[in-house]
Amino acid sequence: MKIVTILGARPQFIKAGSVSREICRQQGLGEDITEIIIHTGQHYDANMSEVFFDEMQIPRPNYYLGVKAKTHGAMTGEMIAKIEEVLVSEKPDWVMVYGDTNSTLAGAIAASKLNIPVAHVEAGLRSFNMQMPEEINRILTDRISSALFCPSQVALDNLTQEGVEFWKPRAEVVFSGDVMFDGAIHYKNLCSKPENVLIDGDYILCTIHRAENTDNISRLEEILAALNEIAKDRKVILPLHPRTKKLIETNSFDTSNLTIIEPVGYLNMVWLIINCSLVMTDSGGLQKEAYFFSKRCVVLRDETEWVELVSSGSNVLVGCNKHKIIEAASKNYNSKFDESFYGKGNACEIIVNYLIGK
Ligand code: UD1
Ligand code: UDP
Repeated sequence: MKIVTILGARPQFIKAGSVSREICRQQGLGEDITEIIIHTGQHYDANMSEVFFDEMQIPRPNYYLGVKAKTHGAMTGEMIAKIEEVLVSEKPDWVMVYGDTNSTLAGAIAASKLNIPVAHVEAGLRSFNMQMPEEINRILTDRISSALFCPSQVALDNLTQEGVEFWKPRAEVVFSGDVMFDGAIHYKNLCSKPENVLIDGDYILCTIHRAENTDNISRLEEILAALNEIAKDRKVILPLHPRTKKLIETNSFDTSNLTIIEPVGYLNMVWLIINCSLVMTDSGGLQKEAYFFSKRCVVLRDETEWVELVSSGSNVLVGCNKHKIIEAASKNYNSKFDESFYGKGNACEIIVNYLIGK
């Protein structure tokens, strides 16, 4: 049984790392399963890519396609062509894609056109905002996938609403739980304090990179103004995505009160989450990780795919309004972890067992 895994962006390394570990475990038990990894090259800086393979002991990619920093069409198109070449020669039984990036969609299109079944990890999530590139990627990927692994009940319900019943027999929906929950459990005991960052008390952990906030310069300006204001009284640590870094530099936004650091590896990131007093982010993954570690999270977006965290009161949606952001940050209490949202921490095992037909 051969699986080709398609990766390209930071959150995919983190998600796929846990599934690769489970594949290795099953190999150790004598299962006949091989994983071939294709890295599209979408994220390419060492601190956006290599660090995760090093630290998380993710098997090195067998193929590196080197497709980087292009427009959506050029990037996705070049990825499809290059992935297709590899799939034609590797002839896998399954192609596995993660999440909702351009690498996800490219992998799903290349495989499905070759009639290779696609397994989509993190299927069924919806923001219902078609302005988001991620929403387009995830809807299209789900529609052409054969195994739809849902991280949450809401994701499963979304697919039911879209009529997944009628996509049968090609498509099957499986509630797996969230592979990021498996990862959080595994890495919480391996995490480490980042060096070269002075941390001596309370701090807020923040990330911003989503297109909806960074493509729209006035949104980014307002969010940064709010964070800079909050940082007058409380330390705000911002590991900065290269996309946002470029925009801050080009527009000379005032970030003088913020503690801006380079993107960190996952072991440092988990430490930063566990030890912070509040998370503020537009990241999909970080919204949940805050919850896994019982931290309240202020979501710098107008909507979210992780709606159960908002309705349960752990996370609050504030969009880009400066006053709302400042007010939300002042309400500081920890959330309560309720593990039933994202499975039992065995999502990777459920996924791998499904693929090998157990
Ligand atoms: C992508 C995903 C987004 C995901 C995010 C995770 C798409 C459409 N978007 O967004 O869903 O949340 O990854 O982080 O797939 N850059 C560098 N070095 C890098 C990577 C990026 O400098 O290693 C810069 C480049 O200027 C690039 C820009 O960041 O043009 C945007 O990168 P891209 O991969 O297109 O989108 P992300 O914003 O990272
Ligand atoms: N992350 C990290 N280092 C950082 C910032 C984020 O390891 O400097 C991790 C974060 O903990 C989460 C994942 O990257 O596991 C989320 O990726 P990102 O926010 O880039 O993408 P999204 O989840 O929004 O698609």
